[in-house]
Parts: sequence; C-alpha cells; structure tokens
Amino acid sequence: QKGGYPHFMLKEIYEQPDALRNTITPRIVNSLPDFTEDGIDDDVLRNLENITVVACGTAMHAGIVGKAMIEKELRIPVNVEIASEFRYKEPLINEKTLVIVTSQSGETIDTLEALRLAKRCGSKVLSIVNVKGSTIARESDYVLYTHAGPEIAVASTKAYSVQMAAMYLIGCRIGYVKGIYSEDRAREFIRQLLDVIPVIEETLKQADEVKTVANYIKMAPDAFFIGRGLDYTLSLEGALKLKEISYVHAEAYAAGELKHGTIALITDNVPVIALATQESVYGKMISNIREVKARGAYVILVSMDEEYNDGDVCDKHISIPKQDGLFTVFSAAVILQLIAYYTSDAKGLDVDKPRNLAKSVTVE
Ligand code: F6R
Repeated sequence: QKGGYPHFMLKEIYEQPDALRNTITPRIVNSLPDFTEDGIDDDVLRNLENITVVACGTAMHAGIVGKAMIEKELRIPVNVEIASEFRYKEPLINEKTLVIVTSQSGETIDTLEALRLAKRCGSKVLSIVNVKGSTIARESDYVLYTHAGPEIAVASTKAYSVQMAAMYLIGCRIGYVKGIYSEDRAREFIRQLLDVIPVIEETLKQADEVKTVANYIKMAPDAFFIGRGLDYTLSLEGALKLKEISYVHAEAYAAGELKHGTIALITDNVPVIALATQESVYGKMISNIREVKARGAYVILVSMDEEYNDGDVCDKHISIPKQDGLFTVFSAAVILQLIAYYTSDAKGLDVDKPRNLAKSVTVE
C-alpha cells in the first residue's frame, strides 16, 4: 500500500508530479486554461470585483500563496480568511465577491459553515476540493476538483501543491477572461505552470541533502522560516508542517519584520530556514539572512543559486532549479515538506499519524 516507501507521507511527497499533472492538464485546451468540463461559468470570473478565500490549515496557506500571486499579477484584491474566524463574523463580502473555498477532504466543518455563510451573503462559491462528492463539493456553486488521489498521511503535502496549482489556474483564467492577460501571456503562464512538474522531479533528487539538515533540526526546540513575498507565504506552510509532525516549535516570519522584535529569539544554533527565490527582493533577503547569521543562527538557505558557499550567509545550501519566481513555491514546498518529514523520522515519531491530529476535522 505504501508502494515501497516507509511512510505514506514520503510516498505522497513523491506523488506530487503526477498529482499536478492530473490536476493541471485536463484544464488546458489549446494551451490556455479552460474550465468548460468543470462547468465553471466564465461570467462569474469575468464579473468578480474581489475574491475571498476561506479555508483551514494547509488549505488556507495555499490560499495565501494564491492571494500573493493573483494580487501581483492581476491587481485584484484577495482576502484570505481562516474559516473558523470567518464563520463567526459579519464578513465583508457580497455578490461581487467570488468566494473560493479550499478543502482537501471537503468535510471540514468550519470551512463548510463558512461556505454556507458566504452563500447567504449572496456570493458565488467556487470550491477547490480533492474528495469527489464531499459535502463542500456538493454545496458549492462550482467545483474545481484537484486530482491528487487519496491522501492518507495526516500532514497534507500533495493536496497542498494541487491546491496551489488550482489557484494558479483560476488566476490565469480570470486574467484571461477579464482581458488583463493577453492570450500570449496566458499561454506563457500555463507553459511555466506545466514546467513545475519536471522541476519538482528534479527537486526530489535533493532528498538526501535535506536529510542531513533534518539531523540538525531534530535537536532544536525552535526553528524559524523566513522569506519575502511569495517565499514568506510558503514559509507559513513550512512552519506548520514542521510543528505538526516533528513537534519542533516553528514560526514563519516575513524576513524584514524580524528586526521588529522576533530577532531577539535568534541566538546560537537556532535553525533558520531561509527562502530566497524572489529576484526582486533577493538582495534584501540576503542581508536579512546575514543579520540572523551574525546572531549565531544555523542557516539553511533555499535558493536557485547553483552553489552558495559564503559562511557568513549560510551553513547549508539547498538548490532548487531555476524558474520564474512566480512558480518557485512549488519546488520550494517540496524542500520544506522533506525537511519536516526527515526531521520527524529522525526523531522516531509516527510520521503519518502525529499526536492529537485527525485527517479530517468534522468537529469544531
Ligand atoms: C495540515 C493539514 C491541515 C488541513 C486542514 C484542512 O497538514 O492537513 O491543516 O489542511 O485541517 O483540511 P481540509 O483541506 O480537508 O479542509
């Protein structure tokens, strides 16, 4: 059942190229994103004025990545809400808002109640769901199924990647039908999104490198994930994954915000996983990394540089393939998943079934 892998989580990490292929390719017609088969009405995408994403946990983190991408590319405001908060407030949404509900299981109770509230507010609901026929899928106006296949490990990995891919596809289609993206730009975007698949295959070859880092992190009580822009949005998921399965306390921080307080916690040997894949802020990011390094942090740098040997910047460098910065979240996510996986395994923990957690949260 585990296909020769020691844990479902590792198997599912390795299934990501297939999961992405199965999710993306059926939605590409004539090199453009196309939701005809999914029955998603282009008018809804064309007429929306803003977007609210509602979800929990990892699915919510995929929404935060989607927000960064859509706001940057399309200049459409995207609000991301934690479902358990959203459902108890009077949300600022209306019929001009497209509410995107994201859920692997399609059964998370807070997300489901958020969906119901969104409909009562007059918004159209498009859900990104992995489990066919689940309650969230059934109650939504439109569904974009992700085709990750069953996810058994409690910690979500392949479902996260395909949720991000779904966000990217939706963003590209919105850009195209609203005329924000030219046909050429939309085609180029899709080409780059498809490129993510071989890039992840390449990234997975770094697993042994990541394993060495895990042997270090496993000894730490705390770790930090830092980045800027899309790298920061991805850090949130890196920190959640590490906490969830390795029980190492972790915090994600926008790199430039560290000096406003949190850097006080950076002392000798504190692991800092630094993502530096965003070209426009690369220089700023490297100087933030130097700041933590100068305070004694053990820095694991994830970047597109082929090599990075400067001991004033990092202790360990993990290289991901070169790509446009809009798409690096996919390969960097794989590195963060592997960091969490190997740390948990090195601690001898039950990787697939972490304490206190259930795969599907159907109670409040
Ligand atoms: C973390 C994880 C959870 C889920 C969350 C929402 O690895 O899996 O944070 O993402 O419980 O679950 P779904 O997506 O089923 O609504």
